[in-house]
Amino acid sequence: MESGIKRKLSTEPYKGVRDFYPEDMFVHNYILETMRETAERFGYLEYSASVLEPAELYEAKTSQEIVSEQTYTFIDRGERRVTLRPEMTPSVARMLAGRRRELALPLRLYSIPNVFRYERPQRGRLREHWQLNCDLFGVFGIEAEIEIITLADRLMQAFGAKKNDYEIRVNSRTLLMNTYRSLLKDGSEFPELLRLLDRKDKMESDTFLSAWQERFGAPFKDVEATDHPPLKELTEALTERNVDITFDPFLARGFDYYTDIVFEVFDTAPDNRRSLFGGGRYDRLLEIFDAEPLPAVGFGMGDVTVRDFLTTHNLMPAYRPSTDLFLATFDTSYIGAAQELAEFLREKGLRVAVNLLDKKVGDQVKTADKLHIPFILVVGENEMKTQTFKLKHLATTDEREVPREEIAPTIQKRIGA
Ligand code: HAM
Repeated sequence: MESGIKRKLSTEPYKGVRDFYPEDMFVHNYILETMRETAERFGYLEYSASVLEPAELYEAKTSQEIVSEQTYTFIDRGERRVTLRPEMTPSVARMLAGRRRELALPLRLYSIPNVFRYERPQRGRLREHWQLNCDLFGVFGIEAEIEIITLADRLMQAFGAKKNDYEIRVNSRTLLMNTYRSLLKDGSEFPELLRLLDRKDKMESDTFLSAWQERFGAPFKDVEATDHPPLKELTEALTERNVDITFDPFLARGFDYYTDIVFEVFDTAPDNRRSLFGGGRYDRLLEIFDAEPLPAVGFGMGDVTVRDFLTTHNLMPAYRPSTDLFLATFDTSYIGAAQELAEFLREKGLRVAVNLLDKKVGDQVKTADKLHIPFILVVGENEMKTQTFKLKHLATTDEREVPREEIAPTIQKRIGA
């Protein structure tokens, strides 16, 4: 409304997305680095794509809920419908379908894109998150699931998790289909059955049973893992690799494209009993591009749930800024000299920030401390004359006289460079 008084802009970020101040960025980078290192240790190669995709990509075969309620879609200036990717799987399928004949199989790919979903923000769910995607293409056999679930397990351990901090639950859509086939008129009802199964844990048992009876005209019947040889084989092979999995006959997962084994990793902490990440096999996604089928198994691991897990289990890394040393100045006339010293030290590999303000030395030290910069030294008349500096380690208040040449090696020794 026009009121004559300009409304001040809010400093809050858009609903459900995050700002990353340096200390948040430190944790974010730690999470992404751990993901990257672990994926690469298993021979996965990094790829990327634009955050913008044609809207049809998600309408062809994904999840009804995501497409109709959770996508950010807009019309561009050329009248094209564009979606901010809500997940990475359709993008990687599109990229591989485009080069289907040239692929060197088995192909292992990973990416850590930010993805967008219009969801009600709550613990573990935001409107933008970063998601590690690891996918293994070209393997029809259970070896693919074995590798992918082992990788998921090793990722948890790379974050410092112990075995009983998390649980890997596994199910098979093929098994579900075989068990419930007689209840369905045709395959198109299967996604609805999966959605109902998926909600079972969130419903009263009676409500679930009557909803089932009403929809499928028969009483609900339990599924046995022993009915499905691949699940047995998977369990045995993973046990050999010291990876524990649990069969969960209600695990369905949201996306329509999964074709067989699905899995999900859960936090076991009583106050954070939630799903951390998951995935499964999707052998037919390339069909939407009219490309030759390509078997695929993979998962997506979000940074938000990982961060919650790290907090819950006391596994958060202690913050360390990327700056090693702060150069304080006796007064502003020494800023030039400090800049010169900074250049010299940067050449030696140190990360150095210089005071630029007319502040007392004591206040400069406080600033450096507030920023958690570990080392500080003062540039003044005496120091310039002797080319020797009092190097102070702020955390321990340890102080020592160090000649110019020795500053970098001294700091590098302390910070383990
Ligand atoms: P998804 O289960 O929808 O699967 O997402 C994977 C993970 O991303 C979730 O388990 C969670 O960690 C994180 N995540 C999802 N939505 C949100 C949200 N709104 N806020 C925060 N974190 C979220 C997929 O997206 C599949 N494309 C994964 C996949 C890859 N399957 C095979 N390959």
